[in-house]
Amino acid sequence: MDRTAPTDHPVLPAIAARWSPRSYLETPVPDAALHSILEAGRWAASAYNEQPWQYLITRRALEPEAFAKLLACLVPFNQGWIGGAPVLMLACARLNSAGNGKPNPWSHYDAGQASSAMAIQAAALGLQLHQMAGFDAAAARAAFAIPEDVAPIAAMVLGTPGPASALPEALAQRETAPRARKPAGEMFFLGQWG
Ligand SMILES: Cc1cc2nc3c(=O)[nH]c(=O)nc-3n(C[C@H](O)[C@H](O)[C@H](O)COP(=O)(O)O)c2cc1C
Repeated sequence: MDRTAPTDHPVLPAIAARWSPRSYLETPVPDAALHSILEAGRWAASAYNEQPWQYLITRRALEPEAFAKLLACLVPFNQGWIGGAPVLMLACARLNSAGNGKPNPWSHYDAGQASSAMAIQAAALGLQLHQMAGFDAAAARAAFAIPEDVAPIAAMVLGTPGPASALPEALAQRETAPRARKPAGEMFFLGQWG
């Protein structure tokens, strides 16, 4: 299924290819691909080069107990579509600067940049990474003994997109609906606000 973004202007192929599937094949993610995706996150930019992102990675086949624990933290809607997807991750941010111990106001922003780089790298490799706000951060903290100064931000599914027909009807329709964005004029202001 081709879900390439219908961009108004040319962009890098992997940016147009990235999307958020809900149907995934059970095919495991090869180690080399996983390493490349994590490496893309590792090289994201960050304020003061703090690199405040931290990720929990669980592979269904290799860390089944951790995978099941993380899956249990997702809201029922997200649990409902994950099916046999092979990798579940949790994106987190260290809230305080390693340098001075003070709150780092950019930690979430920086973690988002790392996740975005990972998603684009995944798309370049024919995989897709679907980020999810729909999870219980307190449950994830408890399940994995995540320290108080680290915030769980988003769960993510990684794998090979599968057929929309594997999903229930309502989700299959969303999976094949045209991809859309607000007009650029609502996001980018030239010289003056609005
Ligand atoms: C921070 C964040 C949280 C999201 N949370 C969910 C979620 O809980 N469940 C879900 O199905 N999709 C979730 N999404 C996916 C978005 O719905 C999706 O990115 C958006 O509709 C744009 O579609 P695209 O990624 O295919 O371009 C989330 C995406 C982001 C970046």
